[in-house]
Amino acid sequence: MIQLLLATRNQHKTREFAKLLGGNFMVRDLTSKSDVPAIVESGATFEENAALKAVTISKIFPNEIVVADDSGLEVEAVGGAPGVFSARYAGENASDRRNVEKLLRELQEVRDRSARFYCVIALAKSGQLMTTVAGEVVGTITKSPRGESGFGYDPIFLPNGFSETLAELTSETKNKISHRAQATAALVRHFNTALRSGKM
Ligand code: IMP
Repeated sequence: MIQLLLATRNQHKTREFAKLLGGNFMVRDLTSKSDVPAIVESGATFEENAALKAVTISKIFPNEIVVADDSGLEVEAVGGAPGVFSARYAGENASDRRNVEKLLRELQEVRDRSARFYCVIALAKSGQLMTTVAGEVVGTITKSPRGESGFGYDPIFLPNGFSETLAELTSETKNKISHRAQATAALVRHFNTALRSGKM
């Protein structure tokens, strides 16, 4: 059993990770830990932000294998925006709805609506970055929101090969194809390789 400490207080994220990782992992998060400072996600890339979170938390808990993720939406026509600003595209503490409205406004006249959700997972131990892995789901941005499930930009993201947005698909389907699912699968492969080569 591999024990992991997730650098999050978001129990929804913890449950999703635990489910995606499967039975060989025991996942805890920061909810029961006090005195953990808030980490400002100041990096210019998803890789930098995920690494910053994992390394900072693993300095506080040096005996743990710490896992941190960072993810967001990149739209080609607007130079990869909202990117690392996905959560606060329409301003600090902006609602999902306002972020979506802003993006749709910016894409009003745009024909090529290619986009991807991208997720980076960083792994750290004793304050050292061990590795980063990534996953993506590619698709296009719709003209208007569709569907009620999910969160964030799900209602306007049409994954390639599907005629429903991520907010119209069931959570089971989303969890199979999502950027987080792909990145988590890469993390599991990383651990399997490390175990086989006797590095863990
Ligand atoms: P986080 O790094 O997982 O906290 O994601 C940052 C932001 O990216 C979220 O607040 C959403 O706006 C957006 N985002 C990340 N993953 C998803 C997703 O699966 N669906 C929709 N939006 C997402």
